[in-house]
Amino acid sequence: MNANELRQKYIDFFVKHAHARIEGKSLIPENDPTVLFTTAGMHPLVPYLLGAEHPAGKRLVDVQKCIRTGDIESVGDFSHLTFFEMLGNWSLGDYFKEDAIKMSYEFLTSPEWLGIPHEKLGVTVFAGEKGEGGAPDIPRDDESAAVWSSLGFSKERIAYRPREDNWWGPAGTTGPCGPDSEMYIDMGKEPCSPACEPGCGCGKWLEIWNDVFMQYNKDADGNYIPLARKCVDTGMGVERTVTILTGKKSVYDTEIFQPIIKAIVAACVPPPECSGGVCAMPYRYGMGETQPEYAERDRSVRIIADHVRSAVFIVGDPKAVTPSNVGAGYVLRRLIRRAIRHGRKLAGGSGTEGLFLSKIACVVIENFREAYPELEQNRAFILEELTKEEERFLETLHKGEKEFEKLLPNLLRDPKKVMSGRLAFKLYDTYGFPIELTAELAAENGLTVNREEFEEAFKKHQETSRAGGEQIFKAGLADHSEISTKYHTATHLLQAALKQVLGSHVAQKGSNITHERMRFDFSHPAPMTADEIKRVEDIVNEQIKRDLPVTMEVMELEAAKAGGATALFGEKYEARVKVYTIGAFSKEVCGGPHVEHTGTLGHFKIQKEQSSSSGVRRIRAILE
Ligand code: ALA
Repeated sequence: MNANELRQKYIDFFVKHAHARIEGKSLIPENDPTVLFTTAGMHPLVPYLLGAEHPAGKRLVDVQKCIRTGDIESVGDFSHLTFFEMLGNWSLGDYFKEDAIKMSYEFLTSPEWLGIPHEKLGVTVFAGEKGEGGAPDIPRDDESAAVWSSLGFSKERIAYRPREDNWWGPAGTTGPCGPDSEMYIDMGKEPCSPACEPGCGCGKWLEIWNDVFMQYNKDADGNYIPLARKCVDTGMGVERTVTILTGKKSVYDTEIFQPIIKAIVAACVPPPECSGGVCAMPYRYGMGETQPEYAERDRSVRIIADHVRSAVFIVGDPKAVTPSNVGAGYVLRRLIRRAIRHGRKLAGGSGTEGLFLSKIACVVIENFREAYPELEQNRAFILEELTKEEERFLETLHKGEKEFEKLLPNLLRDPKKVMSGRLAFKLYDTYGFPIELTAELAAENGLTVNREEFEEAFKKHQETSRAGGEQIFKAGLADHSEISTKYHTATHLLQAALKQVLGSHVAQKGSNITHERMRFDFSHPAPMTADEIKRVEDIVNEQIKRDLPVTMEVMELEAAKAGGATALFGEKYEARVKVYTIGAFSKEVCGGPHVEHTGTLGHFKIQKEQSSSSGVRRIRAILE
């Protein structure tokens, strides 16, 4: 079974059980300032899990693209991934534990569906706990255990596990959560101890699916408010399930990754060395398992495969993020640059011949175009952005290497052969030269780097830039005088107009208002044309002429989001927020203040449109 077949079977099964198929959503959460990426299938459904009506009904099924970067440093082993696909089915106040478990079991074991033998399965349920810190007492989940038992699971195959294992959510800091019941495959290994049971992390049991019983809403103060309507949220990882069903040892051995891996080896690994007409055995991925000298190569290949795949999906998303130094853009930059570093490592440290990212990206697009047509649609943009970032990084590396060479004679004079962390930090700070590369260059020249000192300088720097960031944010609105208030309302009109003219990928990245002008930063990959600028101006002036009323409503953040209000990406909000609506033209979560009618704004004029940072444009505009 391959990924396409698995997705299809999952959807078919749940549609057969009266679920409506809904589209998976963007990797960039809609108006959720608490996280950078969509981390689970339930993420886009949070408002519905909290009680809002879903237009498609009470039973839903979909496939959701997810990014989790918490374990980014572990990527390179056999199982960690930053991007993955999650299959999920939901009950919004419809069925609960019994039906959810019975459907999961049928899908896993029925020969018509996945046909996994009953004997290979084990399950876990929530062990219960005494509530602490705002959490209520939660009883042991005997109800789920009884359902599993009725399906033929013996006591040994039903494990009661604590919160660390069998509690899910919220996805961000607040939101729906509850106990869960997880399904595991017995990988056939000997038990690690007499206490080894489903859920044990020794490698015998591999999790395949999670049924979450959403019962609470965790609020910003840490309280658990019981949901009026209990829900089910489930998640099955596509990559893992395909691995199990095809009997592979690692996600990287499946067809999901193999074409990508072949392309990486072809693009990055130089041909074997030959002498006297005799050549060494050419490297293939997987040689590391028998020949330890190749284990590091395999690891680099896996890192590149994972990171490039994630980068392609992030840049190819309808709400594309491009590399930058903040938020999701920064995560993307790290993924791309880490892939490049490992590409250079594979090539022998001296750098691959020319650029290689777009070659790998093409294979990723090819491999996923059927399930994710947006990749094909955004092909040119993806390749362009990846290549631009690759060129930028190579330039950085080049400069850093040159600087290092200049420093070298002095460094070699140090009797202890230690490069100070301050100097390494300077290379990082001035040239963006990564510490790992400084360490590598140093090692090549018989030097070590004082990493502790580097970390210290790095931490100090982060603290200062965070404080700076807060100040910049506070300065968004200089004061509440009449003219700044007008400018503030104009930024809302401008944002909505930009979305109309340039597309829904436009997101506010910053704003700064003085008495003389407004500045507005937003995500967009290319300079605006004169025609686009004119159209935006015209739309804004049209809304001013219409003298639209500006109204404010206080509501739950979730309700605001559900109502389609735009919110600032990366910003944290209180549970209740103000939403400003301008006629039917614009709706934003915002602290205000604003004018009461747009007619008072005067005439809006864009003076300048320029680049602010990579993928971010800056507009300077005035009200005349
Ligand atoms: N939301 C649950 C998970 O991500 C299903 O595991």
